[in-house]
Amino acid sequence: MEERIGEILIDSRQIQSRVAELARRIETDYKDVTCLLVGILKGAFIFMGDLARNIHSPAEFDFMAVSSYGTRSKTSGVVRIIKDLDIDITGRHVLIVEDIVDTGLTLKYLMANLEARGPASLEVCAFLNKMVPQRVEIPVKYEGFRIEDVFVVGYGLDYGEKYRNLPYIATLECGV
Ligand code: IMP
Ligand code: MG
Repeated sequence: MEERIGEILIDSRQIQSRVAELARRIETDYKDVTCLLVGILKGAFIFMGDLARNIHSPAEFDFMAVSSYGTRSKTSGVVRIIKDLDIDITGRHVLIVEDIVDTGLTLKYLMANLEARGPASLEVCAFLNKMVPQRVEIPVKYEGFRIEDVFVVGYGLDYGEKYRNLPYIATLECGV
């Protein structure tokens, strides 16, 4: 089955201006403490890079890589940590940086896992928040954009490891 890029939902200008806004809010909210941004690989790598360049106050960065058991586009809820954090987050102000919240299962697991390590605070920054029915409620404090329940690629998001490098968010069309 051949797939191709469909409609551009969010263009690169919209992305850059929204990321700058989120960075301003993060700077303000963490002005008295050093925020530790935890990027979830691989999807969040571009968002994390853009956020980092827009945050003009002291911040630290670390990454985790997770994989969810399931098919290519459906999460099962069972998450495996492929790469854990390098930094001990006990007493730290942690901000999880995710590409997209879909069913919410990945973040539910990650939040419980990180909370158990005793951070001073734990919040979520998600570039996309997908409006899917019957999903796990995740408190996304910093949200880039809300999108409909469609499969999207670009800006870090992939389909079979492709399209992560597109500078915009687009839908994917599947042909025959
Ligand atoms: P969740 O556990 O269902 O919230 O899934 C989150 C993960 O599924 C994300 O971090 C993405 O890697 C992947 N995912 C969910 N929806 C999309 C999509 O529309 N395009 C690409 N990846 C997606
Ligand atoms: Mg992914």
